[in-house]
Amino acid sequence: MIDESLIRRLKASKKVAVLTGAGVSAESGVPTFRGEEGMWKKFKPEELANFDAFMRNPDMVWEWYEHRKDLMSKVKPNAGHYAMAKMEKLFPVFTLITQNIDNLHRIAGSENILELHGNIRRNFCINCKKQYNDEHLTLGGGKVPKCSCGGMIRPDVVWFGEMLPGSILESAFKAAETCDFFLSLGTSAVVYPAAMLPVAAKKAGAVLLEINPETTPLTQSTDYYIKAKTGEVLPQIVEAIIK
Ligand code: OAD
Repeated sequence: MIDESLIRRLKASKKVAVLTGAGVSAESGVPTFRGEEGMWKKFKPEELANFDAFMRNPDMVWEWYEHRKDLMSKVKPNAGHYAMAKMEKLFPVFTLITQNIDNLHRIAGSENILELHGNIRRNFCINCKKQYNDEHLTLGGGKVPKCSCGGMIRPDVVWFGEMLPGSILESAFKAAETCDFFLSLGTSAVVYPAAMLPVAAKKAGAVLLEINPETTPLTQSTDYYIKAKTGEVLPQIVEAIIK
């Protein structure tokens, strides 16, 4: 049962912002980073997800991303992604800020999306910065592809130690600081600067809701916390606000 005051306050909101993390894609079969089933238990981020590792061993890093591209091309959005796409139509301003690179929000029909950490389907040349989508490359060979200029092509995702795309981050903070209601969904809320967004929203006066089966460092600052899976709760929230 969802708190009636939560639904009332959400329904009365004109500007809504959402931050999503790996947890919202867990029910689609995309592994999270942290936690018992998290990827970083099996792989070391410093060996795979940073520029130095790519320069040291480009084929190994590229092969790992080919594996992730393959996995992510086979998964489908879940009920949580579709509920967020529906929610977008219910509010005058709705901004979906995601740390996920799996493209599932777009496939589910969300439109106003800010991808903080890039998108696994895009790639670019480290030399001339030319963009290549996956369909422009031959994938599966485990060898880093080369640009027409001869430079190596890398996935267009943010690696450890790299800056987030500035204009996207700026828009994300603007959405957080001007919204009436902020939802933090399926994120461990430990990776910065994304983890600052819900805090900034709350500080600027927004109502803060978190949905996560586990508590996070953010939980104690929330107005509402629902200990559950987003794929289960978000459809109920949408139904309740439509009613
Ligand atoms: P994490 O793997 O750190 O956290 C996933 C969160 O989702 C955890 O708090 C889980 O409890 C929660 N969770 C699991 N299943 C869920 C479900 N069905 N519904 C709701 N929540 C669920 O993932 P992120 O917070 O996204 O960055 O990690 C942030 C960043 O750390 C990633 O974008 C990545 C990583 O380093 C980069 O690669 C730059």
